[in-house]
Amino acid sequence: MPTVKIGLLGLGHVGSAVADALRVNGNHFAVRTGAIPIITRVAVKHLHKPRRVTVDPDLLTDDTWRVVRDPSVDVIVEAIGGVEPAASYLTEALSRGKHVVTANKQVVSARGNELTQLAGAVGRVFAYEASVGAALPVIRVFKSHLVGDRVTEITAVINGTSNFILSQMELGRPFATALAEAQARGLAEPDPADDVTGRDAAAKLAILIRLAFDAAATAQTIVHRGIDTVSPEDVARARSDGKRIRLLAVARRTNGTLAAGVFPASVPREHPLAQLDDEENGLLVRSDLAGELFIRGRGAGGVPTSSAILGDLASTVNSTSNGSPAVLKEVEILPLLTFDREQAAAYAEVDGR
Ligand SMILES: NC(=O)c1ccc[n+]([C@@H]2O[C@H](COP(=O)([O-])OP(=O)(O)OC[C@H]3O[C@@H](n4cnc5c(N)ncnc54)[C@H](OP(=O)(O)O)[C@@H]3O)[C@@H](O)[C@H]2O)c1
Repeated sequence: MPTVKIGLLGLGHVGSAVADALRVNGNHFAVRTGAIPIITRVAVKHLHKPRRVTVDPDLLTDDTWRVVRDPSVDVIVEAIGGVEPAASYLTEALSRGKHVVTANKQVVSARGNELTQLAGAVGRVFAYEASVGAALPVIRVFKSHLVGDRVTEITAVINGTSNFILSQMELGRPFATALAEAQARGLAEPDPADDVTGRDAAAKLAILIRLAFDAAATAQTIVHRGIDTVSPEDVARARSDGKRIRLLAVARRTNGTLAAGVFPASVPREHPLAQLDDEENGLLVRSDLAGELFIRGRGAGGVPTSSAILGDLASTVNSTSNGSPAVLKEVEILPLLTFDREQAAAYAEVDGR
């Protein structure tokens, strides 16, 4: 079976989760895609830092250029963060004919167009599903499923850390304690100021605006406020009014104009976005043909992010085999059970139907 050789940049929350996911699900991935994923190099900033995952020390280096320029590497998976030097690494990798998969919304929002064009010119994949909403399938929805639609509105909760902090504040926990816990759980950005000022959500909204509305936007051009402006009293007041404060990212097209912004808002409890707890993210999309779609799931943390990265890795394998989709092989015959009447009744009961 062919292999896909991976150069991993970063071994923090996301990078470690990717290494773990490939160790645990690597065979599963190989069977489903037709290629065995192998991490052949890992670049980090601090070579001797203690690590949560065990990686063969021979693979580790603090010379990131060496990984990016290694001719044996097929795909660079970037989980460093920030615009530079990440953009330079990714440019070099694509120029050398490698596919690129990134979780880095800062680099995608600031330099995504240029990297996409470069990838197209050299016939390689530049994939960034993990950059918005972690496990939520969001980028693909706009790139493929809704490509024939005219999207009119996106209303989203796309910063897991903010949603986590707001959920904790509703339970009476102080902002600082909740932020520290989000950091300990690996939900927060490398610079948590990005989360609490709304800058992270603005970068993600910029990516979505480009895909959904073909409009140019960056984190800087989208007016954003974060949850650092929300007091415990605001949270309590919203609660007693039957509402929840949520950090909304909104883009709406009306009469040839596009309005966009990131801001905390009091959302009625019945609204689907008000029902997101802790690090959950949600995206409500309206378009002319599909109508209304709602996507909800785990929007932060290394493990859910690794799900999106493995999905993108699979797309690089498919593209290398001349665009033909992976052949799904039946590897395990699962006994097919039918619900008997009693089980079906129990299901209906727990599901409230
Ligand atoms: N955490 C999440 O929930 C989440 C979700 C979706 C997307 N993301 C994105 O994923 C990226 C990584 O986030 P994270 O939470 O994993 O951050 P993190 O825990 O701070 O990890 C960053 C990693 O990058 C390494 N690094 C920094 N500069 C480097 C360089 N120049 N060359 C090689 N390695 C370098 C660091 O090395 P050392 O360990 O040696 O310091 C560290 O291992 C960010 O773009 C973030 O926006 C994060």
